[in-house]
Amino acid sequence: MSDIMFRSAEEADWPAMGLITETAFGFRQPDEAAEAWRSLIAADGAVVACDGDDVVGTAVFLDFELTVPGGAVLPMAGVSMVAVAPTHRRRGALTGMIDELHRRMGPYPVAGLEASEAEIYGRFGYGPATVWERLEVHRGGARFRPGVPDPGGVRLVQPAEHRAHLEDVDERWRRQTPGGLHTPSRLWDEVLADREASRHGGSPRYCLLHRDGYAFYRLHGGDEKTTAEVTKMAAVTAEAEIALWRVLVGLDLKEIVGLHTHPGNVIRYLLTDPRLARTREMFDGLWLRMLDVPAVLQARTYAADLSAVFEVTDDFLGLGGRFALTVRDGRATCERTEAAANVHLDVSVLGSLYFGAHRASSFAAARQLRCSDVELVIALDRAFATDVPAELGFGF
Ligand SMILES: CC(C)(COP(=O)(O)OP(=O)(O)OC[C@H]1O[C@@H](n2cnc3c(N)ncnc32)[C@H](O)[C@@H]1OP(=O)(O)O)[C@@H](O)C(=O)NCCC(=O)NCCS
Repeated sequence: MSDIMFRSAEEADWPAMGLITETAFGFRQPDEAAEAWRSLIAADGAVVACDGDDVVGTAVFLDFELTVPGGAVLPMAGVSMVAVAPTHRRRGALTGMIDELHRRMGPYPVAGLEASEAEIYGRFGYGPATVWERLEVHRGGARFRPGVPDPGGVRLVQPAEHRAHLEDVDERWRRQTPGGLHTPSRLWDEVLADREASRHGGSPRYCLLHRDGYAFYRLHGGDEKTTAEVTKMAAVTAEAEIALWRVLVGLDLKEIVGLHTHPGNVIRYLLTDPRLARTREMFDGLWLRMLDVPAVLQARTYAADLSAVFEVTDDFLGLGGRFALTVRDGRATCERTEAAANVHLDVSVLGSLYFGAHRASSFAAARQLRCSDVELVIALDRAFATDVPAELGFGF
C-alpha cells in the first residue's frame, strides 16, 4: 500500500475519471451515453482513488434489479467503470476502491459485475454465475428440420416507433430469466438513439419484432462475407424464439448470424445440420457476490429438496460463517447455525452455484467445494439446477 486515499467522487472528478476509463478500455462513450449510465449510479455509489490532488482510480456501482431463479427480483449493486491509472497499478488502488464500494452497498443483498479479466475479482468474493457462448450460425445450407413450426408473426420495424412493445417484451423476458435486469428508461433512450459511436463499424440497428419477442441486429463486413450480428434477442415463448430464428437464418446474402447466448440455445436443435451452429468461444458473463447469504439463498426457488450446512469463507468482507439451508417443495429457509457443516466453500463459489450455470460437483472435483458425502453433492446439483438458463440481461 502507498499513500493512495479513497473518497466519494465529486462533480469535478468526472473528467479525470473519464480519462482513466478511456485509457483503460480504449473507448470513449458519447457524452449522452455517459450521462445515461451516470444517471444509474446509486446514491454515493461512485468512489475515486487519489494520489495527492490527482485522481488515479475510479469505481462505481449502479442500482439494478436482478431476476433470480423462480422469478423473484433482488436489488443488485452493479459494479462498473472500474479502472486504475496506468501510473498507479498494483499498489492497492482497486482493493481500496472495492472496499469503499462494499461499505456503501448497505441494503443490497447482492453485488454483480462483468470482469475484464478472470483473475481479478475472485479475491473480493465474486464468482462467475452465467456463461456466455459466442455462437455463429453459418447460414449457407442451413435448413430447418422437418416438423419445426413456421409460426410467422415477425415484422421488420423501426424500433423507435415500437418502444412500448419492445419495453413490454423485454420486461416479461427479464422477469422469467435468471440474470435478467430491468432496463431503465434512460438506457432505452440510448438503445433507440443508436449512436454511430456505438455501432463498432456496423450498420444501423435493425429490429425484428414479434408479439412475444424481438431481435436487434447489425450488419458487419463487406459484400463477400457479411455477418448479421444479433446484439440482443429476447423471446418470451418458444414460438417467438423459433419465429425469430426462422427470419434470422433466412437472411439471404449474409454468411453468418452471430450472437452471444447461453449454452444450449435452441438453434442447434432446429437445424438438420447442427454443426452449422458453431461455438467460437465460451466465457463468463455476470459475476455474483453475496452480501447477505441467507436473503439471497432464500430468494430463489430450487429444483429438489435439500438439507445442508454450509461453512462459507469470506476473507475479504468477513460475512461468511455457517448457514443451514433447507429446501422443501422448491422454497428454502436459510439461517445461521452452530451445527456442524457438511459443505465447505468460498463465498465466490456460492455465487457461481446460484444460477445453476455451474454445478457443485464440478467445484467438488476441483476441490473448491469440500463435501465428503457424495450423495449430498448430487443433491446440491439437483437442487440448484434451473429450468430457465441464466443469461445476463445486458452488459454494464
Ligand atoms: C484491473 C485493475 C483495476 C487492477 O487495479 P490495481 O490497483 O492494480 O489492483 P490492486 O493493486 O488493488 O490489486 C489487488 C490484487 O489483485 C491482483 N490483480 C490486479 N489486477 C489483476 C489482473 N488484471 N490480473 C490478475 N491479478 C490482478 C494484484 O496482483 C493484487 O494481488 P495481491 O493482493 O496478491 O498482491 C487495473 O489493472 C486496471 O485498471 N486495468 C485495466 C482496466 C480493467 O481491466 N478494469 C477492470 C474492469 S472489470
